[in-house]
Amino acid sequence: MSTNRKVVLASRPEGAPVPANFRLERAPMPVIAEGEILVRMRAISMEPAIRGWLDDNDKNYFEPIAIGGTMRALSMGQVVESRLDGYAPGDFVRGLFGWEDYTVANADTVLLQKIDVSPDMPITYYVGVLGGSGQTAIVGLDRIGRAKAGDTVAISAAVGAVGHVAVQYARHIGCRVVGVVGGPEKARVARELGCDAVVDYKSAASMEAAIREAAPEGIDVYFDGVGGEMLDAMLNNMKTFGRVICCGMIAGYNDSDNPPPLYNAWQIVARELELKGFLLYSYAEFVPAALATCIDGLRDGWLRTIEHKRIGLAHAGALFCELMSGRTLGKAVLEMDLSEAD
Ligand SMILES: NC(=O)c1ccc[n+]([C@@H]2O[C@H](COP(=O)([O-])OP(=O)(O)OC[C@H]3O[C@@H](n4cnc5c(N)ncnc54)[C@H](OP(=O)(O)O)[C@@H]3O)[C@@H](O)[C@H]2O)c1
Repeated sequence: MSTNRKVVLASRPEGAPVPANFRLERAPMPVIAEGEILVRMRAISMEPAIRGWLDDNDKNYFEPIAIGGTMRALSMGQVVESRLDGYAPGDFVRGLFGWEDYTVANADTVLLQKIDVSPDMPITYYVGVLGGSGQTAIVGLDRIGRAKAGDTVAISAAVGAVGHVAVQYARHIGCRVVGVVGGPEKARVARELGCDAVVDYKSAASMEAAIREAAPEGIDVYFDGVGGEMLDAMLNNMKTFGRVICCGMIAGYNDSDNPPPLYNAWQIVARELELKGFLLYSYAEFVPAALATCIDGLRDGWLRTIEHKRIGLAHAGALFCELMSGRTLGKAVLEMDLSEAD
């Protein structure tokens, strides 16, 4: 092991990212200092939030990645060498790590934690259904949306990483679920996952009318990962006192200087709506219970997960581009090929 491969940001995307924005490079194998661990990367979570770190502005909650800087993501790895108390070789760890074969972490690494990997669960699940995506779905519905049996819950990006868990959990707790997706294949999967009604916004002449047809009585809780036009259409379909879980606004991520406008904001007042911004990492105390819910769901069978998986570090950039152009279904995850780089 004399070199370490890493994916760096080659150029800043203009609009949707393209594979040429990323470059695979070789660097010397890192040597750890006191207080650090050396981690063999195992699974990298591809998430829309990463798009915000590729722009050189201060609009995000993490600092931008520099040109030539190593790409980063919430990831799973295994400790191979430790000079940090409490961590030993063989431990599984999750944190904000680099897109690389081997990464160095320390006590200040964002979200660093040891993970108990169940033998019956694939390691990639720990950045998806058993990681931030699954937990965001459960904590968002329970704590922000306060969804309960009998509620009508609308979910956008309904067969995406967060959405497909949210759909199944909302069904599990007795809600009526309206899934909003782009395209007929995604609509078919949304029905298979248990959506009571599905809106394919790409084929609907009017998004607002299509939502009304799917939920004539109105929406109690809207789980919003998209923002923009879809949120606007939903505002005109919310019930009085409805709750909107503002989880993401992907409709604006590829052009953060020109976010799509909201024309129906008056409905927030007129319908006395609650719109609450939500970042999972501020709700750490609810994460263990959400994780247990997802593990139970997978074992009991009321929850199934879909992965859009690529294997091998060289595919990381292309996979992220697929995610940001809406071409993935389920959790976009990169699994490291352990036969590479060793
Ligand atoms: N707040 C938090 O703590 C937190 C945590 C995780 C994720 N999130 C947010 O939740 C949302 C979903 O994240 P995810 O990881 O589950 O991703 P994802 O849903 O797996 O992938 C993104 C999906 O968004 C939809 N989409 C709608 N408009 C789009 C556009 N203009 N460009 C690209 N895709 C578009 C596409 O589905 P359709 O084709 O079906 O529309 C696409 O497949 C994102 O906004 C993300 O930032 C927030």
